[in-house]
Amino acid sequence: MEQTKKRSFSAIQPSGTITLGNYMGAIRNWVKLQDEFECIFAIADLHTITVRQEPAKLRAHSLELLAMLLATGIDPEKSLLFCQSHVHQHAELAWVLNCYTQMGELSRMTQFKDKSAKHANNINAGLFTYPTLMAADILLYKADIVPVGEDQKQHLELSRDIANRFNNTYSDTFTVPEPYIVKAGGRVMSLQTPTAKMSKSDPNENGFIALTDPEDVIIRKFKRAVTDSEAVVEYREGKDGINNLLTIYSVVTGKSIEDAVKEFEGKGYGDLKLTVGQAVAAHLKPIQEKYEYFMKNKDYVAEVYTKSADIASKIAQSTLRKVYKKVGFLQK
Ligand code: TYM
Repeated sequence: MEQTKKRSFSAIQPSGTITLGNYMGAIRNWVKLQDEFECIFAIADLHTITVRQEPAKLRAHSLELLAMLLATGIDPEKSLLFCQSHVHQHAELAWVLNCYTQMGELSRMTQFKDKSAKHANNINAGLFTYPTLMAADILLYKADIVPVGEDQKQHLELSRDIANRFNNTYSDTFTVPEPYIVKAGGRVMSLQTPTAKMSKSDPNENGFIALTDPEDVIIRKFKRAVTDSEAVVEYREGKDGINNLLTIYSVVTGKSIEDAVKEFEGKGYGDLKLTVGQAVAAHLKPIQEKYEYFMKNKDYVAEVYTKSADIASKIAQSTLRKVYKKVGFLQK
């Protein structure tokens, strides 16, 4: 594949629910970047097994995620969309990068600290070296940008450090990637605890919106959203719940925050919550319809990820070959 545009790489874990946070922080921006960049997207299934999975469910979740990405507008005519485990070079480069990453660097990762606290009975080595696999994902494709939500920023900084270290030790090998994090939607907050990010692993299902939630569920979750006791719709520091609702509204309707605030002047929180819920449901409806379509056309989905993996593997191999040569392996 001859590269004419700058390249973008990103990935998402098939760990079950796909949330409005995933959509606003990542997927929605992936769709938009497809014209300007050569885009490569992966289902990060190797990352997902750092937490124990039921095999049948992992397979189902991977397929659902692929169908959902196609439904949101990832276009296989423009972009590659495949499973990380289908391109063996990811695991191979990850091993090499493990040897260029310090234990101290990995111990500082907040996601490792959070996840090991949450899964105290399974703090496996994969969980610890998770960020080096991420670095391998990105560096294999010489990605110029990596569109992600804010929670991935620390991992991207480490990827940049690893790339620079390798380049300085040998010679220019990797492109040092830039994070691409949107202001509005880069960190969507939980509807129940608006000081914490919206997460699919939230034990309280009212905290997150799943992209597959039906309209009545979406509206009910927004109606229950935690706000504050001031009863004025304003966007300012300290109003985490309201700021989150206004941000979500602004992203799904395309209106500015200022216009959204004006729209709710003199209105109560009840009006705001209902209107935001309705706007989100309306925005997700066509996506949900397309999702149903792709779930009924699994052969097509399989064709997309198989073809994409073949192309991705060729790109990845050319980087891996250079890396193997630079570190001193004999060429076969
Ligand atoms: P994952 O699967 O947890 O999330 C996928 C994407 O969704 C974003 N995101 C959010 N954005 C805004 N607000 C939220 N509440 C929110 N929750 C999630 C994440 O930032 C992410 O962009 N390790 C990665 C997957 C990965 C990857 C990569 C990403 C593997 N290799 C290489 C980039 C490059 C992860 O677990 O994302």
